Amino acid sequence: MKNSLHQELADEMAGATSPRKIAILFDYMVRTGQSFYDESVTQLEHALQCANQARINDAAPSQITSALLHDLGHFLLDEHNADIAFLADDLNHEAVGADFLESFFPDAVTTPVRLHVPAKRYLCATDAAYYDGLSEASKRSLRVQGGVMSDEERSAFERIPHFEDALILRRWDDLAKVKNLETPGLDVYREVVQSCLRYGERLRRG
Ligand SMILES: [Fe+2]
Repeated sequence: MKNSLHQELADEMAGATSPRKIAILFDYMVRTGQSFYDESVTQLEHALQCANQARINDAAPSQITSALLHDLGHFLLDEHNADIAFLADDLNHEAVGADFLESFFPDAVTTPVRLHVPAKRYLCATDAAYYDGLSEASKRSLRVQGGVMSDEERSAFERIPHFEDALILRRWDDLAKVKNLETPGLDVYREVVQSCLRYGERLRRG
């Protein structure tokens, strides 16, 4: 599901140096992240709060990067601005975001992005307190996302490399919806995101 805006962004990033890639991506997030993620935070605030959870927990660079970029699919789909009932009609923002990011980042970054929605289904199956703590909106979207995972689905999930990072990311994601919370801005993440990018580029060349 690639629209022309995605393609423009991907092309612009592909042709740029590493620092420019990050500058282009962050500018895009500032430009498109002002719409509301939910009733309390904008898309950009949600991304920054999630990344801040990773940062204050001394997470690895790949975890900080996936926390910051985990909902890039929402930015790309512009779901919250478009006249689309995204809760009723799941647009797979996690796959859209991960597909886009795979051109620039390694699996350690993109797999948690891809799995952060099924991670909710996993946690609801394994942790009753987790389900009880979800917001009403998140409980509603769980149904659209496939409901609580079955035992078979859980075992399959546990075989995917980096699945644990997806579970951790999911918990940070859930905490990243606090109205008027002060967090560091995007600049704090430039170097760490760029370090993951370079690693990804080396992997592909190797
Ligand atoms: Fe999120």
